[in-house]
Order: sequence, then C-alpha cells, then structure tokens
Amino acid sequence: MIGHKLQSAIDKRASILGAGTDALRLIDGEGDSLPGLYLDTLAGRWLVSTTASELDTEVLTWLKGQGDKGRTIYWKQLDQHEKTNPTHIAGPSQDEAFTIKESGVDYLLDFQSGYSQGIFLDQRLNRQRVRAHSKHGTTVLNTFAYTGAFSVCAALAGATTTTLDLSQVYLDWARNHFSANDIDPNEHYFCKGDTFHWLKRFARQGRTFDGIILDPPTFSRDDKGKVFRVEKDYGRLVSMAHACLAQGGWILCCTNCRKLELAQFIRMIRQAVPEAQVSSLSMPEEYTAAPYLKSVWVSA
Ligand SMILES: C[S@@+](CC[C@H](N)C(=O)[O-])C[C@H]1O[C@@H](n2cnc3c(N)ncnc32)[C@H](O)[C@@H]1O
Repeated sequence: MIGHKLQSAIDKRASILGAGTDALRLIDGEGDSLPGLYLDTLAGRWLVSTTASELDTEVLTWLKGQGDKGRTIYWKQLDQHEKTNPTHIAGPSQDEAFTIKESGVDYLLDFQSGYSQGIFLDQRLNRQRVRAHSKHGTTVLNTFAYTGAFSVCAALAGATTTTLDLSQVYLDWARNHFSANDIDPNEHYFCKGDTFHWLKRFARQGRTFDGIILDPPTFSRDDKGKVFRVEKDYGRLVSMAHACLAQGGWILCCTNCRKLELAQFIRMIRQAVPEAQVSSLSMPEEYTAAPYLKSVWVSA
C-alpha cells in the first residue's frame, strides 16, 4: 500500500528527469500526502529526509527492497539543531564524492560532507533564471554562495563571477564546481568573508555588478558577532546590494524563512528599493507542498 503511494509520487516526476537532469525531488511530504517524508534522487542514489527521528517501518521495508535491487539509499533527519551526515540505510554505500547533473550542469556532491550535500535542489529554476540573465561580458556577484552553484550557471553564460562565502571549504568546493564544468576558476573571483562587510567594501570602492544573488540563511552571525535575521534585516541587505548594482542590473532575492509570508517579503524589498521593478518567481513544479522558498526578481 505505502509502496504504491511512494512509487506513484516518484513516477509523477519521471518526465522532468533525463535531458541533462538526474537530480530531483521525487517525494515532497504533504504535497504527496506523505507528511514529513522527502526523497531526492541524486544521479540514481536516493536521499530520504524525514522530520521524524526514525523512518516509518513500512517505508523502511520498502526502501530496503529498493536497496536489495542495487539502489544506494541514505537517510537523514531534518533537524536544524542536530546537523549530521546522512546515514547509509540500504544498497551499496557511497563513500566518495560523486557527480550529479542538473539542466546540463555538473555538480559534485558528498554524503560525508555534513548535513547538506553540496546543492539545494529547490533552486533548480532559479539557477536556470540566473543562467538566462547572465550575459557574456557582464559581472555577477553570488553572495552566501555555499558551493557556488549559481556562480557556475552565470559563468557558463559568459559572465565574470564573484563568489562570496564565510567558509573557505565551500569556496574551494565552488572552484571545483567551475573545473567540473570546464571553466577556469582562475578567471573568476572568490571572496572569503561576511557578505555585509564585502557589500560595504564594494560600495566604498565604487565596484558594481550587473547581477547579484542574495540567498542568505534565515539566521546568521558575522565574524564580529553581529546577528542577521531575515524577518528583520532582509531590507537592509537589499539596500546594501542595490548600492553595488550597475544601472539596468538585477538582484535575485531568495529566502526559505517559513515565518515570512511572500507578501511581507515583497513589501520589505519594495521599501528597500522603491524605484525598482519586482516580480515573484515560482518554485519548481516537483515541490508540491507549501511553497516555502520565496524568490523575487528585482530589476533596477
Ligand atoms: C543557504 S546557504 C546558500 C545556498 C546557495 N545560495 C545555493 O543555492 O547554493 C547559506 C550559505 O551562506 C553562508 N553564510 C552564512 N552567513 C554568511 C555571511 N554573513 N556572509 C557570507 N556567507 C555567509 C554559509 O556559509 C552557507 O554557505
């Protein structure tokens, strides 16, 4: 019975796979009448996530059956306080980093890299949008860049990118993402440090960008201990980014803060840049549960 439900959610998304994409959300909790259960395929390997601290026994039995057929399956509990590596639960283990493809772009993932595996699949359409708007000869700044997936998309379109993150580990990973896609990372910029400090510095230097990506964590603390909270501080972040935006440029504003309504998010952005045009962007169709990822395109 449960196997039927799981398989039908997976089958519904089959048409999105192929044609350069082998990584995708296959089960989206409530949206597939499977509350608290999520499944991503990552080039054939499955990553199951649950809000509960244990897998339902029926679901586990079904997954083990899939593992017996040779499918690699890992599981993690969605818990912002206990961020651990996914656990191997069935099929062959995956001890090395591996490559996935999305819209023809290669990304390097790793089940041993901690709570996050190297890409946020819910940004699939936004990566396509960034690629479509990053023209040859333009400059794109990717803040809070994580492993630089947005930067790679902009660079593939011919933009010169600046990838900014607090973590050197993620910046090194981003450089590897460039190389994996035959782009020379030495022709792009990588900045380690706090987004707010860098935006201030760029504005002071009069350095501008044609495109800027803002996708901060809901809560962050800079190296001096200053706190950033999306619900309170996003407007300030947009104003600071706008001060570094070239004429006719764009800003992609994202947040996955569930407490913040889309209307409230748009209001904050409009207040920060009243002269700009803003339009909200949809989540990918495979995310059938509540659309927690809010994305707004700002055109200056
Ligand atoms: C939610 S992830 C961003 C995901 C990324 N935009 C993507 O789609 O691949 C948040 C990232 O922000 C970085 N970060 C957190 N606080 C920061 C800050 N104050 N300045 C720069 N980077 C920060 C973290 O190291 C992490 O890599």
